[in-house]
Amino acid sequence: MTERPRSDARPRIVLTSAVHKRFVERLTEHGDVVVVASTGEPSRASLVAACAGATALLVVGGEAIDEAVLAAAGPQLRVIANIAVGYDNVDVDAASARGVVVTNTPGVLTDDTADMAMALILATARRVVEGDRLIRRREPWRPAPGFMLGRSVSGAELGIVGFGRIGQAVARRARGFGMRVRYTSRSAAPAATEMELDVTRCSLEQILEGADFVSLHCPLTEETRHLIGAAQLAQMKPSGILINTARGPVVDERALAEALRDGVIAGAGLDVFEHEPAVDTRLLACESAVLVPHLGSATAGTRIAMAELAIDNILSVLVGKDPLTPVG
Ligand code: 8YV
Repeated sequence: MTERPRSDARPRIVLTSAVHKRFVERLTEHGDVVVVASTGEPSRASLVAACAGATALLVVGGEAIDEAVLAAAGPQLRVIANIAVGYDNVDVDAASARGVVVTNTPGVLTDDTADMAMALILATARRVVEGDRLIRRREPWRPAPGFMLGRSVSGAELGIVGFGRIGQAVARRARGFGMRVRYTSRSAAPAATEMELDVTRCSLEQILEGADFVSLHCPLTEETRHLIGAAQLAQMKPSGILINTARGPVVDERALAEALRDGVIAGAGLDVFEHEPAVDTRLLACESAVLVPHLGSATAGTRIAMAELAIDNILSVLVGKDPLTPVG
């Protein structure tokens, strides 16, 4: 743990793990900065200990911020800024009950995350990673008519589950690829958005039954945990492909691994996993699964924009202004 000298007048700003020094420098202008883990993931004990006396908490890598952390921080804590659009790692109710503002980073990562969903759609449909593996194994091959046939993306139906910013950005891209798009979400998108994207709203059941690709873009909540389990996978077409760039626990990973093994569905493109960084070993053995280590927002420009927005949120709250992007 690296700690800078403290003075009582300056707020204590705790960073759960390391960020680029330019961000530390920016925050140091406004308070005493503590980085809990200068490399890797912080231990729970070091995180709880470092939070004592914090005024602001910058959550860098999805660390769990719960009642125990809030209690350890104390009553002067004012803001928790999560460097992610998803905030299932933060107990927002517990924070609100203590008057602590929680912020996230919507918008700045929409395009990159939507690109990752498209990358997974294309990679699974056209067997990109399988083909790469085949070449690296130095297997003999020639482009014969029936060799490694994939499936057309153009003309296929994409079912989008969760139609917020990222779901809509995926729809826009998918339309560009000639896909037919339907979506399901708790509330309907504005008619103008539906018209612009040429999409229609339907039930989850209709999506599962009709779509060639089902792409998940809902937040992880108690309602969406294991939204896709064995029963839902069985509703999909045997040729169907599941794409998840949302949160791992939205899918029952064991059920998915079994469905792929048993040919219940044809493939999966996964950027997120139920117990990250662990991955069900049966998925590792599955040629038709494309597995990516949570890279949806992982471009330099987007990661910078996410950190900047999170820090802007902290500084706004510290000077008594409204946060820019509070959750909820
Ligand atoms: C990463 C994400 O979780 O924004 C999200 O919700 O899933 C990703 O951007 C995040 O960058 C890790 O801190």
